[in-house]
Amino acid sequence: MSFAWRKVAVGVATAGLIVGLSACSQEREPSGDETGGGAAEDTLIGIAMPTKSLERWNRDGSHLEELLQDNGYETTLQYADNKVDQQITQIQNMINQGADVLVIASIDGTALAPVLEDAAAADITVIAYDRLINDTPNVDYYATFDNEKVGTLQGQFIEEALDLKNAAGPFNLEPFAGSPDDNNAKFFFSGAWDVLLPYVEAGKLVVPSGKAPASNDDWASIGIQGWGSDTAQAEMENRLNSFYGGGQKVNVVLSPNDSLALGIAQALEGAGYAPGEGYPVLTGQDADQANVLNMLAGKQSMTVWKDTRALGDQVAKMVDQIVKGETVDVNDEETYDNGNKVVPTYLLDPEVVTPDTVESVLVESGFYKAEDLGL
Ligand code: BGC
Repeated sequence: MSFAWRKVAVGVATAGLIVGLSACSQEREPSGDETGGGAAEDTLIGIAMPTKSLERWNRDGSHLEELLQDNGYETTLQYADNKVDQQITQIQNMINQGADVLVIASIDGTALAPVLEDAAAADITVIAYDRLINDTPNVDYYATFDNEKVGTLQGQFIEEALDLKNAAGPFNLEPFAGSPDDNNAKFFFSGAWDVLLPYVEAGKLVVPSGKAPASNDDWASIGIQGWGSDTAQAEMENRLNSFYGGGQKVNVVLSPNDSLALGIAQALEGAGYAPGEGYPVLTGQDADQANVLNMLAGKQSMTVWKDTRALGDQVAKMVDQIVKGETVDVNDEETYDNGNKVVPTYLLDPEVVTPDTVESVLVESGFYKAEDLGL
């Protein structure tokens, strides 16, 4: 598989994503490089990523590593196979190797407090990458896409696709949520459910499986552990087999991301749903290649694209600012309370992609090459 992002100049498509977010910043002390005086040489940056099994984390990891190395940093990039203990061991090793800054996309946002105490004792600055790390004072910055907005965009897409404001309905909805241990999952669900719940309460959307959280706080009851495609597929098959007898059809599936949408589309296919009229509205997030291909084949209605290059660019910049003792860019100092403190955050803007805009957004920005998508 060839990914176009490797070939694209750093920074392409970044500008558009940050429009609308007002920038402000945070002062901090230089990171503890007593001899180097804040130089990139001999400065080790540890990058901890959750898993190689999802396309996006591979992109995230290699792009960030490349940027940091281009800036003269030494790096260690580790993937943890979605295993919390493995990630903790990897972070511990990075601390032992003398890392100056840690960039961590956590698996379980509540499991890292003890190892981050060791990081703090070693005077290491910690950036939470994409996912917030909870219940610890020892996370210095957070960089992510606006997670709540991802869900809002999914909810609004469904609202428009079914014309919920005007149509009488009722439409059959099956909602899904992300992994209960991922701090992002509740934001995705809240953003979508704020749009959709009023229609559920009004009876325009009905949920034959009964798996409709009564409030945003109940989201974990429909969470798919580990964001697994197979788990989502099995859950969707179960719902279709158990609640869709007698010719009843599902009209819309709220899927928080692409890995779930992939499994859900498999289940739909297995149950005889074919692209075209009668195929349900199906949401996603990440613009993974398999899902973009599914969109072009009529098996997924949209994805929320988060340009991982832009996130990497921002984090590389923050690392540089930290090491040089400069002011670190953040643009949100209110939203992301980790249970211990509000973590200064840099938020990027996500964007909806539909089958009609795959070419103009994903290909023209260089995220994919046309041939990656059979275009
Ligand atoms: C990320 C999503 C991703 C999901 C599964 C979330 O934390 O924000 O982009 O789809 O994890 O890996």
